[in-house]
Amino acid sequence: MAEIAIIGGTGFTKLARLEVTRREVVHTPFGEPSAPLTHGLLNGVEVVFLPRHGSGHTLPPHRINYRANLWALRHLGIQSLVSLAAVGGIRKDMRPCRVAVPDQIIDYTWGRKHTFFEQDLTHVTHIDFTEPYCDALRQALIEAGRRAGLDIVGNGVYGATQGPRLETAREIDRLERDGCDIVGMTGMPEAALARELDICYASCAVVANWAAGRGATASITLDEIDRNLKQGMQTASDLLTETMSGLSHG
Ligand code: HPA
Repeated sequence: MAEIAIIGGTGFTKLARLEVTRREVVHTPFGEPSAPLTHGLLNGVEVVFLPRHGSGHTLPPHRINYRANLWALRHLGIQSLVSLAAVGGIRKDMRPCRVAVPDQIIDYTWGRKHTFFEQDLTHVTHIDFTEPYCDALRQALIEAGRRAGLDIVGNGVYGATQGPRLETAREIDRLERDGCDIVGMTGMPEAALARELDICYASCAVVANWAAGRGATASITLDEIDRNLKQGMQTASDLLTETMSGLSHG
């Protein structure tokens, strides 16, 4: 049975090197996940894959049923989860096409169903979220990146914004003052829900564009995002493949 899952974001509705074995529809008490769960082998390791925005990339970040996605993965026995996510680069070294493995999160999202601990509680639960990502999985990704000689940044503060619009230049200034290095729309509540379910969670953030007001151009185009994601996805895909080989060899 697979213990590791991959959630793919924008640009990752499929995993190029996944040998698909079957698809499974899972219904949850929280509604339907973004898509059927795809079982397969990645570099010989059993994994489950789920496209976060749906198979046809139709779900915007604020409409994703994060609770159903996480619950479904837990239901299948998943213990470790790698999130692939497109982000904008704020810090100088977070240039387009690079892949970062962030180590912190600041949450600016609102109005999303962000907890499993809501109803029918016997007591109030506060999860520890001091370190929002699972360090063992982060290190496995960073080590794999080193082994494969990939262009990976092994840290970064992920600012989670509401979307679906991109930010204003002054909003990015504010995020930078807060300490954010990259900005994306799906990192929360996904990471917190994973922690609530005791799933070890880490993220590969693919920089798709300079954040608003940071690049040489006056605006951000979808063309630019698509082009950079294609290249960054190649790196992320190499990184995942190498990470699996590390996991299967101990
Ligand atoms: N901002 C927020 N989310 C994103 C961006 C961005 O600039 N690029 C890709 N996802």
